[in-house]
Amino acid sequence: MIELIRPTSLLAEQWWELVDEFGEAPIHGSGYRFADRAELERPGGLEAWVDLLASYEVDGSDLPEGWVPGSYRWILQDEQLVGTITVRHRLTGALLVVGGHIGYAVRPSARRRGIATAALRQALGVAARLGIDPALVTCEDDNLASARTIEASGGVLENVLGTSRRYWVPTTPPTPPTPPTPPMLGTVLAADPADSADSADPAVPAADAADWAGRRAPA
Ligand SMILES: CC(C)(COP(=O)(O)OP(=O)(O)OC[C@H]1O[C@@H](n2cnc3c(N)ncnc32)[C@H](O)[C@@H]1OP(=O)(O)O)[C@@H](O)C(=O)NCCC(=O)NCCS
Repeated sequence: MIELIRPTSLLAEQWWELVDEFGEAPIHGSGYRFADRAELERPGGLEAWVDLLASYEVDGSDLPEGWVPGSYRWILQDEQLVGTITVRHRLTGALLVVGGHIGYAVRPSARRRGIATAALRQALGVAARLGIDPALVTCEDDNLASARTIEASGGVLENVLGTSRRYWVPTTPPTPPTPPTPPMLGTVLAADPADSADSADPAVPAADAADWAGRRAPA
């Protein structure tokens, strides 16, 4: 099972294993910078950092230069930390080209198991609750894994700017078509066949009307 949770120092050991696996590669969607490691490894450093990330979720918080509020999440699979994902609450001129609303990474040892695809779907739900629809998700033009992840969530490619593939992804599922309004049961039973040619709704044939009458109203 894939879950998104807020970063927590309770998973410190798994966090540092994940960081070690990435080596010097950036951990997209984590808010972590390689240069911060010494600071975070001091006593209390990780606790302070996860609290700081939580504060970034609040609009108006004290953010690093150029950052926007964001919801930082860790991706768990069966309670194991396997990746990171962030939903940025708004776009800047720079994010509009590279970065978009959502960034993510899966640790190398957990890749190609559908984790990014499942995590992106859940992050789109987070974005929807923030009123973002559609979400911009970008990846490098040669990042096939990320492009497929985005396309699996219905991403529509707008263009490629430089090396950035820019997709718009719907965050809310399409609304199913509304069925025709069923006639009232009493109306169907009381209808005089002689009147039916004049009064029946031509859009609801008699057979359909009887079928509707036997069903519960749609929720
Ligand atoms: C991109 C990334 C998050 C994908 O994570 P993942 O959990 O392996 O992805 P999934 O298992 O959900 O696979 C998604 C799709 O990519 C394909 N895929 C995964 N790795 C691939 C690879 N190395 N080459 C080609 N296709 C690949 C999968 O087959 C799947 O496609 P399908 O649905 O058509 O079968 C991961 O490779 C990663 O962390 N890369 C580094 C960070 C990064 O690039 N982040 C994205 C930038 S925002």
